[in-house]
Amino acid sequence: MSNFNGVAFIYDRLAQFVFGREWKDIQMAPAKSIKSNARVLIVGGGSGMILERIEPGCQVDFVELSDKMLEKARRRVTSATVKYVQGDYLNWSPSGKYDAVVFPFFLDSFNAENLSLIIQKAKNELHPKGQMHIVDFRKGNVAQRFLIKLMYLFFRVTAKLEGDKLLDFDSVFTAHGFQKTRTSVFLNQWVFYSVYQLPEDSMPVMLAED
Ligand SMILES: C[S@@+](CC[C@H](N)C(=O)[O-])C[C@H]1O[C@@H](n2cnc3c(N)ncnc32)[C@H](O)[C@@H]1O
Repeated sequence: MSNFNGVAFIYDRLAQFVFGREWKDIQMAPAKSIKSNARVLIVGGGSGMILERIEPGCQVDFVELSDKMLEKARRRVTSATVKYVQGDYLNWSPSGKYDAVVFPFFLDSFNAENLSLIIQKAKNELHPKGQMHIVDFRKGNVAQRFLIKLMYLFFRVTAKLEGDKLLDFDSVFTAHGFQKTRTSVFLNQWVFYSVYQLPEDSMPVMLAED
């Protein structure tokens, strides 16, 4: 299992240095499209920058494995009501369903088997009309692919990252029955923000009672 405790102290500064001014826009992208009063699950939210922009009235469950990252997230000023949970998402059970599940640079940490388990688990925790919000890397051009390799190398050494390559997230969401309803790109198409939803015709039909 990965352990980001060793890099928590420098993670945000490093990201800001590598990704520059767009880093904040990338982090905040999902928050802008989640409506107020939504019930939100954020998994692997790191130091929690997104919490500063989440709409007031939202009820957020923030599940993060690293206690050092979580400590930083707790210090964020937010207008949402946040329940901070330290633990492994795969071994954690929510109470109730969510309108939005956010995976910010989280899915890239896993191998294919766990990626599929995570998406299936989140699907079970989502309201039928709920949305999955994913922010992560695309393979991009040659230079971007090279930097991704370097990042995997760095995080495999410093954080014992389980994954060793960027997987095709789209095909896994499709295999789990999701449709991509919107996408935007950042940093010369290196990073994407996508929203996935289950199609209407896959939702359970509610039968009227006599
Ligand atoms: C690459 S960092 C991303 C941090 C932040 N979301 C961001 O956008 O920069 C991945 C985060 O996922 C957390 N994480 C890794 N495995 C986890 C798990 N099984 N359950 C919960 N959090 C996990 C790590 O501790 C780390 O903070």
